[in-house]
Amino acid sequence: MTRRLLHDRDRPGPAQPDPRSPLLAAKVIDRRQALSLLGSAGLLVALGGCRGDSDSTVLPTTSAPSTDPGAIAPSTAAGMPQLSSEVSDVHIRLVAAPSTAEIRPGTSTDVWSFQAEVLEGDPATVTPSGSYLGPTLHLRQGQRVRVSFENRLPQESIVHWHGLVVPQDQDGQPSEAVAPGGSYEYDFAVANEPGTYWYHPHPHHLTGEQVYRGLAGLLIVHGEGESLPAGPRDLAFVLQDRTFDADGQLRYVTSNHDRLAGFVGDTLVANGVAGLTVTVERGPYRLRLLNGANSRTQSLTLSTGDGFHVVATDGSLLSDPTRVDALVLTPAQRSDLWIDFSRFEPGQRIDLLAADTFIEIPSMMGGGMGGGGMGGGGTLTLEPKVAMSFLIGDGPATPGEAPQGLEAPLVVDPTAATNTDAPRKFELTTRQASHWINGVGWDGRTASAGEIVAFGTTEIWEFTNLSPMAHPMHLHGEAFQIIERTWASDAGAAAWDLIAGGIVESGPRDTVLVWPGQRVRIAVPFTKHRGYFLYHCHILEHEDGGMMRNFLIQ
Ligand code: C2O
Ligand code: CU
Ligand code: CU
Repeated sequence: MTRRLLHDRDRPGPAQPDPRSPLLAAKVIDRRQALSLLGSAGLLVALGGCRGDSDSTVLPTTSAPSTDPGAIAPSTAAGMPQLSSEVSDVHIRLVAAPSTAEIRPGTSTDVWSFQAEVLEGDPATVTPSGSYLGPTLHLRQGQRVRVSFENRLPQESIVHWHGLVVPQDQDGQPSEAVAPGGSYEYDFAVANEPGTYWYHPHPHHLTGEQVYRGLAGLLIVHGEGESLPAGPRDLAFVLQDRTFDADGQLRYVTSNHDRLAGFVGDTLVANGVAGLTVTVERGPYRLRLLNGANSRTQSLTLSTGDGFHVVATDGSLLSDPTRVDALVLTPAQRSDLWIDFSRFEPGQRIDLLAADTFIEIPSMMGGGMGGGGMGGGGTLTLEPKVAMSFLIGDGPATPGEAPQGLEAPLVVDPTAATNTDAPRKFELTTRQASHWINGVGWDGRTASAGEIVAFGTTEIWEFTNLSPMAHPMHLHGEAFQIIERTWASDAGAAAWDLIAGGIVESGPRDTVLVWPGQRVRIAVPFTKHRGYFLYHCHILEHEDGGMMRNFLIQ
């Protein structure tokens, strides 16, 4: 069996290679591909060495590769487990290792996967994902969590708890990456509000490939007295995309253009399964959606034309739930929805549709990239495709009432900002086949003078996107509040109009879409931990390419 990493020749839409594009003109440096191939060889060796071995290097698993055709036929999603009534410490063993999964019906695909077991504490802390995704980790507000992470990949890795407020040495930053065979001990307290978070690797230059091969999982922080539908009525879905080669193996693109634009797969996958259909009862649900794609910012709609009732953004409940016709999620963003399936007919099928919003603005491709601009704005055509489906069950309809005001604690207070009239500025640019933040890229655990903030303060940060494509910017540490969007250049404005209605940012987020030409101001608190924390584009190919820096809270 051969394992190949091929170049993508069929990326649809506006990213279609333009022979004159300066993005393409740059020479292809395939160090990354060389590394990937090396990794694959290592993987084959590792598999050869452990398959059928009684002393298996893979855990007696809670997330065994799915051979159950139920994963593709309509299945009843499990929802949230019943956790023990008292909050006790938990100790989890978390292993990243090669495995296989049935992403498409009848095809076994090699993946890399997180597997976990509870060494101490509530066994319901870990629930299987049913596919290549890591098990969902169910943590409790205030809980002490220990995680023993073991890296059984053929390359270095480390785990980041996306959205959790933890000290620097618990944050899973690239500096903490451990070599193959290495391990890392985490020990932290869950300080976040109840909500939807996730975990994924964060080694420098390798995050995109590791997440793509399957290393990611949901992390739910549970609290007391949440008023939304719970238990089996509380479902979580991870939306991703993958491309398969003729052997049914994952193809991860390393062409220069795809690295610069970000990798887009041609097959939509939900919870690690292509064509996922879940049966739901005729009543209200909480649906937690994570966009776990490497680069695809999705505009989501329902096939029935019904809108979405958004009750939480990233980890925060909305004090004022919002109704939207479409919902835009960038990579790493989460939105929790309240949805009442009682209005639909038994046996009815409802599709969750996703349209890629990728855009490249020709008139912004000039400056510094070595090519002349072609003038004009970029165009965007939304082409919704089925991401997953809901099949309405036969039971009686039990309608619920959409939540109005939710009890949402004040996570960010923009009025506390110390620099309201002089925001800290970050310019996003593209030149020399890379993306840059204030003209610089990844430089290890360092911060420049403009990246040092005072502990205990709240600041206004301003991202100005002068590059031809969108960048979803993520900050580690505390969530922030998006306070203003204006235009530095309006070439992207017409395309923005197509998706703007789906942007929900009335509540805190940890990742914000910065559209080409936009100037986005956010209020960020630095009140929990001192130290170095990352900020970066969450298009993983951009992050791996160096669009990542630290800020230092001191
Ligand atoms: Cu989702 Cu720096 O991470
Ligand atoms: Cu993060
Ligand atoms: Cu980016």
